[in-house]
Formats: sequence, C-alpha cells, structure tokens
Amino acid sequence: MTILGLESSCDDTAAAVVRQRGSEPAEIMSSIVLGQAELHAAFGGVVPEIAARAHAEKIDICVKQALLRAGLTLSDVDAIAVTAGPGLIGGVLAGVMCAKGLAVGTGLPLIGVNHLAGHALTPRLTDQIDYPYLMLLVSGGHCQFLLVQGTDDFTRLGGTIDDAPGEAFDKTARLLGLPQPGGPSVEAEARKGDATRYAFPRPLLDREGCDMSFSGLKTALLRTRDRVVEEKGGLTPADRADLCAGFQMAVADVLAEKTRRALRLYLAENPADPVLAVAGGVAANSLIRSKLEFVAAENGVRFVAPPLSLCTDNAAMIAYAGMERYRAGSQDDLTLVARPRWPLDTSSPALLGSGKKGAKA
Ligand code: KG4
Ligand code: ZN
Repeated sequence: MTILGLESSCDDTAAAVVRQRGSEPAEIMSSIVLGQAELHAAFGGVVPEIAARAHAEKIDICVKQALLRAGLTLSDVDAIAVTAGPGLIGGVLAGVMCAKGLAVGTGLPLIGVNHLAGHALTPRLTDQIDYPYLMLLVSGGHCQFLLVQGTDDFTRLGGTIDDAPGEAFDKTARLLGLPQPGGPSVEAEARKGDATRYAFPRPLLDREGCDMSFSGLKTALLRTRDRVVEEKGGLTPADRADLCAGFQMAVADVLAEKTRRALRLYLAENPADPVLAVAGGVAANSLIRSKLEFVAAENGVRFVAPPLSLCTDNAAMIAYAGMERYRAGSQDDLTLVARPRWPLDTSSPALLGSGKKGAKA
C-alpha cells in the first residue's frame, strides 16, 4: 500500500510518500518539508495569513517533489492522506483543497488525518511498537500525555492548561535577546550556565494529576531578568546562561515528574511491553530527553524517541496515520472539512490553554 501525505497546519509545507508491503515495516519513500521560518522571522512568531499564502503557493510543488524523490507517479498511489486539523485554518484549508483536487483528478480515496494523531502514531512508523503506549507530545504548539490504544483511540491523561513548553523556550529566547527558534539557543546557553543560581517555580507539581502549566515560568524569567537588569544595569553573559539553565531545568523537572505520574496511570493497565514515546520539537532537548529516559528506566519502561526530523512537523507521519486509518476502513469524501480545533480525545474536558496553533486540541 502506498500513501501520499500532505501537511500544512502550521509553518511547514510538507508532502511525503509512505509504502508498506505486507507485514514488513512501513517505509518512508520520500519526505519533503518546506519551512517558512524566513517569512515569519521579522514578526517574532507565525503570521497565519502569511503562512496560508505560502502553503497555497508551495503545496503542489511539494507534492511533485515528494513523488519525484520517491520515483513514483500518482498512478502508483493508493490513497491521499491530508491533515484536516487542528491548526491554523488557512493553512489546513490549503492542504485539504489540494488533496481534494488530487482525489477528484485521480479518483483516489481521500483520508483526513488529525495532525496530533500523526505525531502520536509516529513511533509505530519508526519503531513498529504495539498498542497501547504512552506518548508525550511536546512542541511549540502542543503538550499532552496520550494513552494511545488504537489508530483512533486516544485518552488524554493530562496536558498544558496554558502555553506549550516550546512557546516558553521561544519567549525566553526573545526576552534574553537570543535567536529563534528559542529551544536550541536557550539549550546552548544553558550548557554554560548554573541551573541553581536563580530559583524558578515548578508549576502545578502541588496539584495531583498530569496537567501542566508553563506560562508562569515565562513570567518568572521576565521578573528575574528585570531584577538583575535593575540591580546591575544589564545582563552579563554568565547571567544569561544561568537564567537559561534555571529555566530549562524547571521545564525538565516538571515534564519528568508529570511523566512519572502519567506512567503510573499507564502501567496500571498492565501493558505487555510498556513503552514511553515522545514527539515534538522540544523532545530534541538533551536535558529533557535524558530526564525522560531516566524516568522510563526507573519504571522498567522502554523509551522511544523518533529521529528529530520525524518528531517535528512532517508529512510522513500524516501518510502513515492515513494508512492506518485506510486499513481500518476509514475514508472521507469531498465533504471533508478543515478544522481549526480537533481534540484527539473527545471524552475528556477541553484544556484551557492556547498555543501558537490556537486553542489546544
Ligand atoms: O514540533 P515543532 O517543530 O513544531 C510545532 O510546534 O509543532 O516544535 C518547535 C518547537 C519550538 O518552540 C522550538 O523552540 C522547540 O520546539 N525546540 C526546542 C528544542 N529544539 C526545538 N525546545 C527545547 N530544546 C530544544 N533543543
Ligand atoms: Zn505538530
């Protein structure tokens, strides 16, 4: 089975071809990601209208490149999968309209995929893990613990009630005059710093359960920065590094402790080969990664982290999730709608926060 996948829900225009033969592991034949960082750089964040226009301009080029790289044509494809939400609506629409056009033109089946399901199913594409597993999805737009029990069966055990950690890293970088995206630059500074010099809160650790909050950390950083600037008239390189290290340690501690709690809930189900999987750009952070690895090992649980190119937004994950849906008998038609919000777990109450992709799904 060969699936063409399209992704355009935030600031990456992506297309990919994924193929699976019989019971062999699925293979990524091609995965093209055209980023838009330079288009948004001057604005300090993703501008939805600019993103939508760029997606509309590039998505067909992206599809062509993905087919070319895979050495295939549309006649080799069995179905077209597309992100139908959640995300910035103009971008999602660009992808959905392109996929509908391709489906009408070729007569191929159309499959709408939830972007979060794409992330959440990635460890099955990369590491062939079985259900059920625990997923921590942690990026610039999302932060949630998901008990993944099937292609379409997700239970959210908790998530952020305000910002996503990636957003907090990006904001921290802005406040300290470091380049975007903030995650890698804050991490690089933190490596030179002392994490104990400035005290940062560990939000919501006093509250039971797996919900998290990161907006207070941002505010704490702003206050501490202003205090230091007031006292000394500016920040030295050491101050900046210590602020980054303290902030990063606080995020890592919160994620580690909440993961410990989420694992407890997951392990209560007695899964046969327990797995903790991560996805999202923040999973690239080596301190966070090592703390999560430690928590997994502490509980005798296997830790799976897909390669970074498949942790961040891409279309291979959409093609793969589409393949699972198609095999399970799901298919859409031209009534498929683009959805700015689309919670994976519709039985849990909505989370309060909103990230750079709009309200958290
Ligand atoms: O998954 P992603 O590429 O896009 C979405 O948000 O969907 O994640 C991007 C986020 C950015 O906020 C970026 O600052 C953060 O991931 N990030 C990191 C690191 N690398 C990227 N955060 C912390 N440490 C890193 N090394
Ligand atoms: Zn994403």
